[in-house]
Amino acid sequence: MNRTAGGDVGPPDGARGRGIETELLDGVRSRMAGRGAPPGDQELRAALRDSGRVLGSAALTDLARAARAELYGAGPLQPLLEDPRVTDVLVNAPDEIWVDRGAGLERVDLVLGTPEDVRALAVRLAAAGGQRLDDASPLVDARLPDGTRLHAVVAPVCEQGAVISLRVLRAHAFTLDELVARRALPPAWGPVLRGLVAGRANMLVSGGTGTGKTTLLAALLSLVPGDERVVCVEEARELAPDHPHVVPLTARRPNVEGAGGVELTDLVRNALRMRPDRIVLGECRGAEVREVLMALNTGHDGGLATIHANAVAVIPARLEALAALAGMGRAAVAAQAAGGLDVVLHLRRDRAGGVGRRYLAEIGRVTRTDDGELRVEVAATWDGAGEPVTGPTFEEIRSRWGTP
Ligand SMILES: Nc1ncnc2c1ncn2[C@@H]1O[C@H](COP(=O)(O)OP(=O)(O)OP(=O)(O)O)[C@@H](O)[C@H]1O
Ligand SMILES: [Mg+2]
Repeated sequence: MNRTAGGDVGPPDGARGRGIETELLDGVRSRMAGRGAPPGDQELRAALRDSGRVLGSAALTDLARAARAELYGAGPLQPLLEDPRVTDVLVNAPDEIWVDRGAGLERVDLVLGTPEDVRALAVRLAAAGGQRLDDASPLVDARLPDGTRLHAVVAPVCEQGAVISLRVLRAHAFTLDELVARRALPPAWGPVLRGLVAGRANMLVSGGTGTGKTTLLAALLSLVPGDERVVCVEEARELAPDHPHVVPLTARRPNVEGAGGVELTDLVRNALRMRPDRIVLGECRGAEVREVLMALNTGHDGGLATIHANAVAVIPARLEALAALAGMGRAAVAAQAAGGLDVVLHLRRDRAGGVGRRYLAEIGRVTRTDDGELRVEVAATWDGAGEPVTGPTFEEIRSRWGTP
C-alpha cells in the first residue's frame, strides 16, 4: 500500500478499488438504460432497493453514491475529484495514482484493481466524453459531462494498460477579485488588467503547464462588457467565463477513417465570419496561430489567447515555431505578432517552499527590436509576495489603456 506524501488518506472506504459489485451495477445499469440524463437520487436509490438486497438507509446512501460514480462519474476516482482542493488526478498504473491538492503532486493510497480495470475505466470515461478509445485510436482528449478535462492513453501507446489525466474544472470561473484575494496577482495590477480588457488590448496569457493560464483567461473574459459577442475557439471545451454572450467552438478529431475532423485553424477562420466582437483562442498550439495573428492585424482587437511558454523570453521563439507549422517565416511572424499583440501576461507556479501557488509573475509588452526581431519587453514583475517592480513600459501600458 502506498501512503500519500502528506500522510493523507485516500477516498472514503467503500469507494476504494472497485468498491461496488458488478452484478449489482449491471442491474442498476439495465434499469436505467434508455434514459437520457443521469437519474436523480431517489430514482437511483429505488433501483438499488429493487435489487432485492436488504439495505439500511446509510448503506443505501453510500451505495447510491458509489453507483453514481461508477455509472455516471469517474468511478473510484470520483471522490478524489470531489475534493474541492484537488485540481488534477493522474493515474499512471492501478496502484500509482497522484493528485494535486494545491501543494504539488501527492501519491494517493488507492488501488484500482488490474491494468485491465484501469483501461476499462479510461474507455468508459472517454465514451462519457463522446469519444472512442481503443487500439485503433489510443489517445483521447475530451471533456466529461461535469466539465472535467480528460486525457487518456491506452496500449499500445503506453505499456501499463492506460494512463489517465484528469483536470478538474471549477464550477464557476474565478473572478479577478477572487484571484487578487488568493494572491494570484498584486492588488495594484487589478485595475491595470481591467483597463487592458476594457481598452481592447490584444493579450497573450503565457505560462508553463498548469500555471493557471485558462483560469486567468476566463477571469479576464468575465470582465468583457455584456453587450459584446465573444467567440471562443478551443481544443476541448474548458472556458466557462461569467459572461452572457459566449459562443464556444470546439475542435473535433477525425474518425477512424480520417474523416470529419475540424481543426482549430478552420474554427478560427469561421469564427471571424460569426460577427465576433472578440476572438478567443483557448490555447495556441499549432498552425492556427497564423489565423489568429491575421485576425488581430485586421481590426479584430480585444483578442485573447493562451500560449505554453516557461518564460517570457521564449515567447518569440515559441510563436515562430508554431507559425512555422503554418509555413510562416520569422520576419512575417515578427511583423504580425508585433502588430497584432499588445501585452503578455505571464504566470508562474511556485514550487520552492512547497507552496505550489500560481501567480501572475510578469507583464510584458510585445515589440520589435531595431533589427526587426520580435521581442517581449518586461514591463513589470512580481515575485508572488512583496511589492511588484514596475518600469517605464508599465507606465506606458497604463497610460495607453488606462484604468476603466
Ligand atoms: N490562482 C489560483 N488559485 C487556485 N487554483 C488555481 C488558480 N489558478 C488556477 N487554479 C487551478 O489550477 C488548475 C490549473 O489551472 P488552469 O487550467 O487554468 O491552468 P493552465 O495553465 O491553463 O493548464 P494547462 O497547461 O493544462 O492548459 C485548475 O484546476 C484551476 O482551477
Ligand atoms: Mg489551459
